[in-house]
Amino acid sequence: MSGTVVIGAQWGDEGKGKITDYLAENAQVVVRYQGGTNAGHTVEADGKQYKLHLIPSGILYKDTLNIIGDGVAIDPAALFEEMDYLRGLGADASNLVISDRAHVVMPYHKAIDSLSERRRGSSDIGTTGKGIGPCYTDKFERSGIRVCDLLNRDVFVKKATENIELKNELIEKIYGGEPLDGDSIIEEYLSYAERIRPIAADTTYVLYKEMKKGSSILFEGAQGTLLDIDYGTYPFVTSSHPISGGVCVGAGVGPTAIDKVVGVCKAYTTRVGKGPFPTELLDGTGNLIREKGNEYGTPTGRPRRCGWLDLVIVKFASRLSGITDVAVTKLVTLAGIEKIKVCVGYELNGKVIEYFPASLEELAKCKPVFEEYDGWDGSIMNATEYADLPENAKRYLRRIEEITEARVSIVSVGPEREHTIIVR
Ligand code: IMP
Repeated sequence: MSGTVVIGAQWGDEGKGKITDYLAENAQVVVRYQGGTNAGHTVEADGKQYKLHLIPSGILYKDTLNIIGDGVAIDPAALFEEMDYLRGLGADASNLVISDRAHVVMPYHKAIDSLSERRRGSSDIGTTGKGIGPCYTDKFERSGIRVCDLLNRDVFVKKATENIELKNELIEKIYGGEPLDGDSIIEEYLSYAERIRPIAADTTYVLYKEMKKGSSILFEGAQGTLLDIDYGTYPFVTSSHPISGGVCVGAGVGPTAIDKVVGVCKAYTTRVGKGPFPTELLDGTGNLIREKGNEYGTPTGRPRRCGWLDLVIVKFASRLSGITDVAVTKLVTLAGIEKIKVCVGYELNGKVIEYFPASLEELAKCKPVFEEYDGWDGSIMNATEYADLPENAKRYLRRIEEITEARVSIVSVGPEREHTIIVR
């Protein structure tokens, strides 16, 4: 048995979907362990592009078992929509099991997500509006509805009725919004229950049996390290644990189930939503990177903020998740830029620091300490092995290794599976 975790080493959107899809070829099981439809994983295979939000990226291999673990917030309508979408593209989405302990995203979660953002005004978080934060809030407040609750009609009707009554008060009296129609929500969700029943299970037991059999398991993170609820740029974070530590609670396995952690790192930095971003480029180079890299959010279409590679962040991610291997994506986007900068430290109050500050006020004051490198040209896209990479790109990769103290094992030079170079 082997357990590999794929995590985002930045603010999400590093290209985890592609790397997971690539590694899934040799895995028997792929597990999502946190997040929900706020994620957007784009995978290109057989000349087609697949946009996934909730379903693990191993779904494109017909013999791979895909698991949505208990740490994921499941929106049933979105789940079925995604299954139908995959079938429409010729992919078989039937090799999927979802945890009966996972929490269910309800319409009031989505309503409260947007109403609370509206109330925050200019201090809004910039959420994806998919109801993820409010769903996890209910989980920790112990009023959430789990998949097993949805499958028990009486339990579901009781819990949903109580919750809708309370949430409607909140929606109307605090947020000044329109109350939701409880009967239609209950009817809609009861119809989902019948479709969910055949694919719901105690996924910890399914995983245990797979591990006993010696299967290779791939744990697929969503979002990225700096969106982690504890270690990210709080409060501009998501409400779960994208770091490797999230695997144990979100999939229901012990730490001994993990023997490799792949940190996916884009060759530059992007961020959606609000909050400080020390290496952000607000100039023509930032726009160039956005257009060339198609840096627009998969779930929302929002333009991503773009900046130079910040290795203070990737080093922090490496430490937090015990990254053993780095997968560098989108080197091609930087092709043609003559001088490329990399941030290796921050200057804060006249001193150079190498750690990532907890305080956003301190982070906002941090000035990046840059190193400058000569760039490479578009021929990088034709590279099929490490030796083919331009010397300047190799130097860039070596610097990433030195700072993160992890080996660069995978380099992605394009969107398709074949555009993947295994370094070691
Ligand atoms: P939420 O997860 O929708 O609550 O959004 C909270 C923060 O996380 C916002 O800044 C979002 O833009 C960000 N976020 C959530 N999911 C992703 C993702 O998959 N990629 C990048 N940012 C994300």
